[in-house]
Amino acid sequence: MSRILVTGGLGFIGSHTVVELQSSGYNVVIIDNLSNSKIEVLDNIESITGKRPDYYNIDLKSKEKVQHFFQQQKIDGIIHFAASKAVGESVEQPLKYYENNITTLVYILQEMKKHQLTNFIFSSSCTVYGQADELPITEKAPIKPAESPYGNTKQIGEEIIKESCIADNLAAIALRYFNPIGAHNSAKIGELPLGVPQNLIPYVTQTAVGIRKELSVFGGDYPTQDGTAIRDYIHVVDLAKAHIAALERLLKNNNKTEFEVFNVGTGKGSSVLEVIQAFEKVSNTKLNYKIVERREGDITAAYADTNLANEELGWKAEKTIEEALASAWKWQMEQ
Ligand code: UFG
Repeated sequence: MSRILVTGGLGFIGSHTVVELQSSGYNVVIIDNLSNSKIEVLDNIESITGKRPDYYNIDLKSKEKVQHFFQQQKIDGIIHFAASKAVGESVEQPLKYYENNITTLVYILQEMKKHQLTNFIFSSSCTVYGQADELPITEKAPIKPAESPYGNTKQIGEEIIKESCIADNLAAIALRYFNPIGAHNSAKIGELPLGVPQNLIPYVTQTAVGIRKELSVFGGDYPTQDGTAIRDYIHVVDLAKAHIAALERLLKNNNKTEFEVFNVGTGKGSSVLEVIQAFEKVSNTKLNYKIVERREGDITAAYADTNLANEELGWKAEKTIEEALASAWKWQMEQ
């Protein structure tokens, strides 16, 4: 069976993808430097799947260590999650983001070229579209100037990969994630935000258990039906499964061009107030929240046109936002 390298495999999306890979029969080797994850996740993956993935604590910023790893290991495909992802932090520390997200990508691609490895899946983001002119957003929507260094690393990352595909005989798929939420049904793995959560769902669940006093809803004056911003929230397990579909496309040489891009969302937009209502219903709690000023850099609305992924990858999000919120709540209660 194929052996797949998952960088950042102990992180939120990475760990769920490792579980799906193992459940589909793949052998997995994880590289993770624990910069935003915990080693216990390895045990938790094992307790879900019954199989412990190989694990290396390697910092991908070390070119020698990356070279050494690829000399030693037999790999059939790479899913590259390892990256920094906090939008606000990226504005304060842009160079950290270019080093963590771009330098490391280049090192991996160099090794892929050297060892003639071809199958590469990249974690991209709907952030590349900015505020799209048309909704739902198709993959043909223009790339807008990045709102943050983080967003820029995703745009530049895609370009680097595309150029490398053309020049170096690489085959790659970039998955543009919308808003991943939720946790594994077992509540053994989930999102582990460091410090005060920046994203909506962990802030909601932490408020509901009393770790945070009150949720600030950023902006009540957007041109939407209830005035709050709209996003496409996708269950992390559905998102993980999209990686398996993309990987299989590459392993079977079913890709149509050397570099392909797919939106990964549900196709359905939900406002912040709709999320709160749905959360209150599934958790049977009353959430303490207040509408405040808009958050800088936020867009009004984004949700995916998922037809391309449906048709080409044979993949479709199956879980509802209620299921995703219920799983996030169960995970929070376990913590
Ligand atoms: N929100 C609140 N209160 C909070 C947190 C978020 O009202 O405490 C709102 C936001 O304003 C936004 C929605 O909830 O309308 C979702 O916010 P998130 O921070 O959860 O997600 P974003 O859509 O802002 O972020 C996502 C990805 C990022 C990516 C970004 C690009 O998580 O990786 O889209 O816009 F960079």
